[in-house]
Amino acid sequence: MKTQIYRIDGSPNDEMRIKEAGEIIKRGGLVAFPTETVYGLGGDALNPEAAAKIYAAKGRPTDNPLIVHLCRTSDIEAIVRDIPPVFYKLADAFWPGPLTVVLRKTVRVPDSTTGGLATVAVRMPDNQTALALIEAAGGFVAAPSANRSGRPSPTTIEHVIADMDGCIEMIIDDGAARIGIESTILDLISSPAKILRPGHITEAELSPYLGTVERAAETDRLSIPLAPGMKYRHYAPKGKMTIVEGEEEAVIAYINERLASDKAEGLKTGVIASRQTCSQYRADSVKCLGDRGDEETLAHNLYRILREFDDEITDVIYSEAFASENIGEAIMDRLSKAAQHNIVYL
Ligand code: TXA
Ligand code: MG
Repeated sequence: MKTQIYRIDGSPNDEMRIKEAGEIIKRGGLVAFPTETVYGLGGDALNPEAAAKIYAAKGRPTDNPLIVHLCRTSDIEAIVRDIPPVFYKLADAFWPGPLTVVLRKTVRVPDSTTGGLATVAVRMPDNQTALALIEAAGGFVAAPSANRSGRPSPTTIEHVIADMDGCIEMIIDDGAARIGIESTILDLISSPAKILRPGHITEAELSPYLGTVERAAETDRLSIPLAPGMKYRHYAPKGKMTIVEGEEEAVIAYINERLASDKAEGLKTGVIASRQTCSQYRADSVKCLGDRGDEETLAHNLYRILREFDDEITDVIYSEAFASENIGEAIMDRLSKAAQHNIVYL
């Protein structure tokens, strides 16, 4: 299949091409599109065959449910039942934005979209192109991140092209994703509400609306039906990755020692470090994630850097640990998954 690529350029063409993209989705085709978190791979959420195509293009197991994207809060009433009043408060506060809520689905949502679950995950992305596309596509766009299964989520158009060119009808390019990590997923069915996946919207921001918020334990995350996506290996670079946590000087010394012995074995080495420390490592490739105090930048750069290590065919990657407060929780969640929870505490 030949994939059309359209770059949003602020010209009158944008509107026309977004309409065209919407028509592609209405006809059962797939379009990769920008959101504020990561690029999504969109199909018609109410068409069972579109979900099957999404799973095929991603190489993803079909029991891993998709997020349905809306362009109007009230549209949720067509696809969700038993909506708690707090949902509207959360939508007022955080939509459009990187918050996904899990609620009970209506019969309009096909089982293939939700991987057979009786619940559906829903969000409204904070990106004008995404909102216009969802509208043009009929209002309900199912979209996982637009990566091949097991690859980091795509935050730039190059990432989307690398994973999806030739597999889908169209890719819409709107520059680098602003946030860079996926939305916070909040289960509003269980009581108290539960964060299934940490993201840019933090527990501290949610708790004024919800009172207590629970955090899904790692064991919960591995179970069906809570967050089926969590049981698959995600975000993993090809190289073996280790996170090293401890006092700064000890971490630097430990990683440099490991690098020396890896290099002696002929391995290609990489390090993920902060701006403060990146000059101190003797690896083949040292990547600066950003200033330690600047969570927004750390989140923004993470997936690009993991992909760069794949492209460079790095055999071993060491990463510093980062503070896990606020957005840092989502950053450490993604880093730990990439490392398959291989963490050395000094
Ligand atoms: O920021 C995002 O959320 C991006 C953009 C494209 O919107 N999307 C995204 O989708 O990250 P995906 O498919 O890569 O991750 C969705 C996660 C999976 O872990 C999935 O298991 C979980 O959401 N999920 C979907 N529906 C669910 C449900 N009904 N109950 C629990 N978890 C659900
Ligand atoms: Mg994903």
